[in-house]
Amino acid sequence: MTSKYSLFKKGFGPFPSEIVRLPFPNPYRRPAGLSEADFVDYAIQQLENAFVAQIDPEVVAAIVIEPIQGEGGFIPTPPRFLQRIRELCTQHGIVMVADEIQCGFGRTGKLFACEHYDIVPDLLTTAKSLAAGMPLAAVTGRAEIMDAPHPGGLGGTYSGNPLACAAAIEAIDMIRQPEFLARATAIGERLRQHLEEFQSHHPLIGDVRGVGAMMAMELVRDRQAKTPAPDEVARITQETLKRGLITIRAGLYSNCVRFLPPLNITDAQIDEGMAIVAEALHVISAEQTAAR
Ligand SMILES: Cc1ncc(COP(=O)(O)O)c(C=O)c1O
Repeated sequence: MTSKYSLFKKGFGPFPSEIVRLPFPNPYRRPAGLSEADFVDYAIQQLENAFVAQIDPEVVAAIVIEPIQGEGGFIPTPPRFLQRIRELCTQHGIVMVADEIQCGFGRTGKLFACEHYDIVPDLLTTAKSLAAGMPLAAVTGRAEIMDAPHPGGLGGTYSGNPLACAAAIEAIDMIRQPEFLARATAIGERLRQHLEEFQSHHPLIGDVRGVGAMMAMELVRDRQAKTPAPDEVARITQETLKRGLITIRAGLYSNCVRFLPPLNITDAQIDEGMAIVAEALHVISAEQTAAR
């Protein structure tokens, strides 16, 4: 279902039909001159219009959205947009699915990212931190949906793997502790301080954003035109790797570097890692100056 075509779908197929994709309101890339509030209003209008122009709400099974986009570049959904989706789902009897595989389980400083928005989805998908590294994914939801399939109607070779489930029980016990979640928020604040400091020196960094310990910097060749800089992100990845730090890209244009460290990281480790990112940024900036 992903719409990140070039990275995940090119050369594969066929894909399921009748999936309608709507534009995601990315505040950083809104049209010049439009306020963020007006941009969100317009996005909501487009969403409502889709139920007239593209599909009858009566035949829509579900709306799937990441409350905070992961692969898409760590973009928090504007709150009013997500809340309007919740209202429309309730109004039309559509199942609202929050994909929290990347943003859930403490990553953003709350157990689930939806909690930042005061909404409750009908189904929630989780994986990654759920079992702290053991391979496990889960679909959690309202009883009337989860209990609807006939016995045996949902299955899989590894479903309910005992070892992974035991790991998940322990991990959830720890992750839900208020002190653990507070630490995720503190990690995010420390990351943000480093990234904003880098941004003040490097015009290459167009945006710094994220929630809790889910932070990203978006690299652009020109802050005005916001021309994506994916090659520079690839260079950062090479330079940090040379110095012992693995960084990972994100974003529709592969022009973001994402930071989602393990939530047991120490402040000293954050600072050590970010010092390497700073060095990499200096190398890339020097290369750019030399090329001009
Ligand atoms: C938001 C999101 N949804 C779904 C997936 C895929 O999850 P899984 O490997 O459990 O199918 C990923 C993987 O990175 C993801 O980030």
